[in-house]
Amino acid sequence: MTPIFDRFLYGGDWNPEQWDEQTWRRDIEMLKDAHINEATINVFSWASLQPDEETYDFTTLDRIVKLLVDNGMSIVLATSTGALPAWLVRTHPEVIKTDIDGRRHVFGGRHNACPNSPVFRRLARALASKLAERYAGTPGLAAWHVSNEYGEMCYCAQCAQSFREWLRSKYGTLEALNRAWYSNFWGHTILDWADIVPPVDYGDGIGTDKAVISGLYMDYRRFQSQSMLACYTNERDAIRAFDVDTPITTNLMGTFKNLDYFEWGRELDVVSWDNYPGMDTPPSFTAMVHDLMRGVGGNKPFMLMEQTPNQQNWFPFCKVKRPGEVRKLSWQAVAHGADTVQFFQMRQSIGGCERFHGAVIGHDGTEDSRTFREIAALGDELDRVGADLMGGEIDAQVAIMFDWSSYWSLEGCVGPTQGLRYPDEVHRFYRVFHERNIAVDMIPSTTDAATLARYRMVVAPALIQVLPGVADAVTEYVRGGGTFVTGYMAGIHNEHDLVVPGGYPGELRRLMGVWVEEIDALAPGETVPVMPVAAPQVVDGGRDLARHYGTVTGEQDGTAWSGVIVASLMHLEGARPLAVYGGDAFYAGSPAVTVNEVGDGRAYYVGAPLDEVGMGAVLGVVADGLGLESTVAGDGVEIMRRRHEDGSVDVYVINLEDRAVRASLASYAGARDRLTGNGVSAGGIVELPAYGVMILES
Ligand code: GLA
Ligand code: ZN
Repeated sequence: MTPIFDRFLYGGDWNPEQWDEQTWRRDIEMLKDAHINEATINVFSWASLQPDEETYDFTTLDRIVKLLVDNGMSIVLATSTGALPAWLVRTHPEVIKTDIDGRRHVFGGRHNACPNSPVFRRLARALASKLAERYAGTPGLAAWHVSNEYGEMCYCAQCAQSFREWLRSKYGTLEALNRAWYSNFWGHTILDWADIVPPVDYGDGIGTDKAVISGLYMDYRRFQSQSMLACYTNERDAIRAFDVDTPITTNLMGTFKNLDYFEWGRELDVVSWDNYPGMDTPPSFTAMVHDLMRGVGGNKPFMLMEQTPNQQNWFPFCKVKRPGEVRKLSWQAVAHGADTVQFFQMRQSIGGCERFHGAVIGHDGTEDSRTFREIAALGDELDRVGADLMGGEIDAQVAIMFDWSSYWSLEGCVGPTQGLRYPDEVHRFYRVFHERNIAVDMIPSTTDAATLARYRMVVAPALIQVLPGVADAVTEYVRGGGTFVTGYMAGIHNEHDLVVPGGYPGELRRLMGVWVEEIDALAPGETVPVMPVAAPQVVDGGRDLARHYGTVTGEQDGTAWSGVIVASLMHLEGARPLAVYGGDAFYAGSPAVTVNEVGDGRAYYVGAPLDEVGMGAVLGVVADGLGLESTVAGDGVEIMRRRHEDGSVDVYVINLEDRAVRASLASYAGARDRLTGNGVSAGGIVELPAYGVMILES
């Protein structure tokens, strides 16, 4: 598709207001030496732009903008509403958020506005308008960046009032609301709209992440996500009134829980997000989150708005990124659809809590640091090849559903286990495809049947909440020849978080051909053995799990895979078992993984979270049976393809690990590496150094 920007943006957050002007000029010279061509500015400047309610002062920002324009830099211009200025909290104390413990905050921190405060909405809109009026048409203005990392929930009186109105328009009557919430549980019946209060810790909440009435909890989360989105569109619309075409975005945070990003994606001109993997984040998890962010934006290229040029500062332990690691993370983002590489931040602060956060220019202030040199070398590469890579799309034959309702519902359950983290369970399935370099699109659960039909395989991990229409769409997809995979915890709840009566997996029971009668929780460290059934069960393409398992482990029987966290105890209602539980007599022989043939398609149920080998064997055999092309080039080597409109394809080959690896790229023999100009040898064997990257033209 046509790239959204006219060049590959390389840069990120720059906070010149923390420095004198001489330093600004030095920064620009150094940044240009690093091939940086973009600065994200004005992210936290509300206090200086507007010293009181009536006064605006753009003199400093004018000078910053002029310096960037004079130097031919692209600009991502933020609206500065991510942190409240002191005068605003002094004059309108209700503008600041109230936390789940009922503490109204005082001045300080950031991401601290009540999203339903009329004063906040009015003043944020006014500031965005003034900025847009003044800076629309600025040469090099690439994008608007509204606020910063939305996501902090508020529990104040104003939010409570707005929530009541939101509920009134959703349910109409208290009868309907009480029914949806099952509120006669513990006599929580709502008798007057005024009785409704947010699920605070000292009210209906159970800790910060659960509530007695989970319908209330779900609705409050939906309401807060939409309230914050309304803050975004409030500023966006103000900008649009003065600037008709510059893309407007806000920086998202991957699998961040509080915002239903699929709803948000519909309102963003381009998705941008901040990638901060921790020292133990598996590279496949990072890959998944890039795919999720791409999916949120409708599978269009996205912006990598932030990452660190070296260490973070806010993890308990912040590892120095090893040589080549930032480059690898950058190319991995591009491989998954990023059309920008941006950092937080350009110059390291000497004060404030982020002074130990990595930056392009460190405390030494020179170009002599390892970080600076690596950023400059990456900049050089992007300068050479970046523009040609932009706009490439990813063709995926597998889709994984990521559903914020199920996220909230699963982690909001009181029982049967505290062991399930929704993003980790999605990753448990995703990882199998990643290991095989099978591209995945992340899609909302409410995707219609026609769109599902574009995929050979649709996977719905831990889809505990089946929203209206989802079961029908998935069933139609399977009947028409699709392959659907779900499993443990699926289908238990409706959209109000009420159990669908009549046996799990509720609305999916007919499709899956199983009845899950009981769900056993396993203690931390406890496992239940799961093994493929001995008698050959013909699966797709004549392969069977038992035989495949043999090739995976080198044994025909004996050791089994491990089921962890929860185990579904189920009855077959038309499905065939592919694997059964072992272990004690209670479990032994009962179905653990099943397949049901429905119409022209198949529906697989994975009854327990399996270890890596188990998940790999089960999903792998399904993928193989469908003939999905999998490319395992070498251990820890990721391969992604981005296709351009003219049919050409860039093949990203990335060594995800900090050790050299020999990769076998037989199908790309002779292809040229855009980065070095070298061709892949006839045999297709390449040596990739630690974190090495190749981009093959194909
Ligand atoms: C977030 C914020 C930035 C900065 C970085 C530090 O992504 O958007 O302002 O605080 O974290 O990692
Ligand atoms: Zn509030």
